Amino acid sequence: MSKRKILVSSALPYANGEIHLGHLLEYIQTDIWVRYQRMMGNECHYVCADDAHGTPIMLKAQELGITPEELIAGVSERHQADFKDFAIEFSQYHSTHSDENREVSEGIYKKLNDAGYIKKRTISQAFDPEKKMFLPDRFIKGDCPKCGAVEQYGDNCESCGATYSTTELKNAKSAVSGATPITKESEHYFFDLPQFEEKLKKWTDAGHLQPEIRNKLSEWFDQGLQQWDISRDAPYFGFQIPGVKDKFFYVWLDAPIGYMGSFKKLCDETGLDFDEYFNKDSKTEMYHFIGKDIVYFHALFWPATLMGSNYRTPNAIFAHGFLTVNGQKMSKSRGTFIQARTYLNHLNPECLRYYYSYKLTPKIDDIDLNLEDFKQRVNSDLVGKVVNIASRSAGFIVKKYNRTLSAYAIESDLYNQFLAKGDEIASMYESRNYNQAMREIMKLADKANQYIDENKPWQLVKEDGKEAMVHDVTSLAINLFRVLMTYLKPVLPVMAKDAEKFLNIDELTWGAIKHPLTKHKINKFKPMMMRIEDEQIANLIEASKENIQQISNDNETQDDNMIQIDDFSKIDLRIAKIVKAQEVEGADKLVQLTLDIGEEGTRNVFAGIKEYYTPEDLEGRLTVMVANLAPRKMRFGVSEGMILAASDGKSVHLLSSDSDAKPGMKIR
Ligand code: 2FM
Ligand code: ZN
Repeated sequence: MSKRKILVSSALPYANGEIHLGHLLEYIQTDIWVRYQRMMGNECHYVCADDAHGTPIMLKAQELGITPEELIAGVSERHQADFKDFAIEFSQYHSTHSDENREVSEGIYKKLNDAGYIKKRTISQAFDPEKKMFLPDRFIKGDCPKCGAVEQYGDNCESCGATYSTTELKNAKSAVSGATPITKESEHYFFDLPQFEEKLKKWTDAGHLQPEIRNKLSEWFDQGLQQWDISRDAPYFGFQIPGVKDKFFYVWLDAPIGYMGSFKKLCDETGLDFDEYFNKDSKTEMYHFIGKDIVYFHALFWPATLMGSNYRTPNAIFAHGFLTVNGQKMSKSRGTFIQARTYLNHLNPECLRYYYSYKLTPKIDDIDLNLEDFKQRVNSDLVGKVVNIASRSAGFIVKKYNRTLSAYAIESDLYNQFLAKGDEIASMYESRNYNQAMREIMKLADKANQYIDENKPWQLVKEDGKEAMVHDVTSLAINLFRVLMTYLKPVLPVMAKDAEKFLNIDELTWGAIKHPLTKHKINKFKPMMMRIEDEQIANLIEASKENIQQISNDNETQDDNMIQIDDFSKIDLRIAKIVKAQEVEGADKLVQLTLDIGEEGTRNVFAGIKEYYTPEDLEGRLTVMVANLAPRKMRFGVSEGMILAASDGKSVHLLSSDSDAKPGMKIR
């Protein structure tokens, strides 16, 4: 079969938050598929980007006192480091706030406009008279009109589940300034989706969607398609609508176009032909992996946008379900809202890659990460079955046979049985039925272990005249391990690298296993995967609780309202000398400080600066502390104040004073 040319994307993560295990389900699912395609010899490009525009990002930057550009630069760095450490290998990771994306977005908008697909209409919306901005629903809070629960968001009640429009909310307040919103009119730009109804129906019926998604679309068609509001008024962080003052593209217009923007950058850098992939009659394939919550955008708006601007449409949208942890929605208080970085601090990323593979099917059912099951599955399958085959055989080859494998695998039936499963396993990867693929591979691993158990090389080795047999049994076992690691390579790329080193080969490839390794020298065996211990999981949960405490503290930071001098003078700022600094066991971010504030004695303060300072850097320094902050009970003890530091979201700089200031001096 000739080489396929494939462009793949995962959904673009928002640039105002960290990557967590929920996000990772999708990136791991996609990455496995891409690696599988490449192993099959296909040309497969995997693009992604940060989704950098919109009101929440603009407000978050304001809250932190930095520009949106600074915010998204810091987040992008952290996102990319997380992905890299989970072995997610993009061909290109870009940002929607880029020249490439602006160019493609403007181009698409112009084509849609010229073709008569953009309509203008004046609408009324909630407006914050203090902050002088229109308020998206999630930035309006008030009392639920049905059950009266206070502090509910603009469009739904978390307490009773009711949905309503923001105008029905009682005592509505802007979550940005606290002001009572007024209603204000403005002209908006709409994408005329109903004009695409027939074409979209045809597209929906042409096999591009999973059955569950197709059914959902039928419902939406029955309800009738609506025009889509693609403009937002200033202030907004996004791309200005060409030729229109103070109006911007709504973030969801330029987000999927971000797939094209990112690919465009890849083309510019590598010489790939953008048009070959996006021309209307393109022979290449394009797939979008997404979560089931954003199907409307990808299966209706997105193909219609592409149709209206004369580009190709996707071959398929691959939606997956949500992630639950221990059977429930990820929860900050339970410590199951786990960030990628926190996981990496405690566990091997490939364990998660394997567990997700074990759970993933082409369906859109939710997927549960049960942490006990996770531990058992990884320990039993990867450590107990797969690695065990190599670990129990390698010693014989290394010590007794000069590290060299015998030629026995060539004539072995068992080896051929392993090979015979290759096509089936490949098609399971192709159809994203990773669960079935993992089950098949583990059945083979069981067979290999049974084979070793039946032949007992550890006993044979004590019998006379069984030298050759021990050599053959263990050589075959190593060859079976090689086949298994080849089949697992899309899921476990790092372990596959270790296996390559151990097997002393360049690369595990699907084609190469036809020929077993014979008369071939291997290297000494080194453990490739450690068992997961209960303690690691307990620590992960604890650390996730701590993490969240930090985030919610961040979120409590007030917006930039003016304060009066009286407000300021309520804060008792003092010079403090750090007399002792120590690490806090089990905390990723905290250091425990003993602060001398002169006559009032010492204070115990926990500060989230461990990543930036060692205890030695800190001891002896003079800094500034808030001395009258009410004591806060934290997981590691009571914090009796706060030290002051400057930050741009990326680095942290502790405030210092002249060295002749005395501990306890008041800041005025
Ligand atoms: O739902 C989200 O997290 C969005 N940032 C996904 C965007 S996907 C694509 F359309 F850009
Ligand atoms: Zn309610």
